[in-house]
Amino acid sequence: MAITSFRQQSPEPDPDDSNGKKKSRRNSRKQQSDTDDLLLATAMADETDNQEERIRPHRLADYIGQKELKGVLEIAIAAAKGRNEALDHLLLYGPPGLGKTTMSLILATEMEVNCKITAAPALERPRDIVGILVNLKPGDILFIDEIHRLSRMSEELLYPAMEDYRLDITIGKGQTARTRSIPLPHFTLVGATTRVGSLTSPLRDRFGLIQRLRFYETDELSLIVQRTANLLKAPITADGAEEIARRSRGTPRIANRLLKRVRDYTQVKKLGSINQEVAAEALEIFNVDPMGLDWTDRLVLTVMIEQFNGGPVGLEAVAAATGEDSQTIEDVYEPYLLQIGYLHRTPRGRVATVAARKHLGYD
Ligand code: ADE
Repeated sequence: MAITSFRQQSPEPDPDDSNGKKKSRRNSRKQQSDTDDLLLATAMADETDNQEERIRPHRLADYIGQKELKGVLEIAIAAAKGRNEALDHLLLYGPPGLGKTTMSLILATEMEVNCKITAAPALERPRDIVGILVNLKPGDILFIDEIHRLSRMSEELLYPAMEDYRLDITIGKGQTARTRSIPLPHFTLVGATTRVGSLTSPLRDRFGLIQRLRFYETDELSLIVQRTANLLKAPITADGAEEIARRSRGTPRIANRLLKRVRDYTQVKKLGSINQEVAAEALEIFNVDPMGLDWTDRLVLTVMIEQFNGGPVGLEAVAAATGEDSQTIEDVYEPYLLQIGYLHRTPRGRVATVAARKHLGYD
């Protein structure tokens, strides 16, 4: 299977770009917090890193967790293969780091087709998406990350492409403009998003399969950590893997990243294999607490408790008080805090719960 990547350099938006003061405040906060990088490093880095490729599962059978999703996809793959057709278009949504790109690559391996990887911000101009679509081969998978950020023109080109495997392009301008239809091979679009609610309904409705990726359980993450440690030839005990898993916010990308940091620590301190004590010790140094919260999670909760009396407080107020970007708080930090019950969303704003207060040592 050939993998082609059309990613742009920086997929994360930065609404603070025009605000130097706010940005430099954020940068100084970043320096205080090594773990921000652990949480926020983009999929881009993952994709271009050979080591990341080595540790990705390549077959559905090697993929740990997401049992329901795997069940749905197993049927879809067998059916499409049986009919010798392309897979139906698939929309994967859920928090970052749960394996949307990995799943798309696995689908391509299972279907024995190529996978082209891109992200919506790299498809700003219609010609970007036209260039990719006309080069697809029958059955190929086109993976578009952050699909909720597609420009309107690119999105409108996708409608007939998805529905009728046809590209409608306009040549010329004004009165001399003509529309030409170019047939496309039957391909599969895999869209990935952290914000399924931001997709327009015409786009959402064109996906035959819409699937959510959920946070992983600790036992699933333990298996992932052990599998990765094996591939990295890093000795690890079952309780060492579990300690890393517990602090990984239900997210394989974070689990594998924490494992690498713990492996470095174990190697430099000549501690032999990664056991529970070593993992806990190393992760304390990286500011990842026993619930997997990092410096920014704790800042968000502390600000809510100390400055807003625990809430309800609006997202923008929390963003301003912490110096974090509101979209990053909403997409990266909040989902896990909501999942573990440290944060509630109410119509009047966010509330830090009693469990969050207890965890942070408040009465
Ligand atoms: N590495 C990252 N995610 C994984 C998963 N779900 N299963 C196995 N290995 C992984």
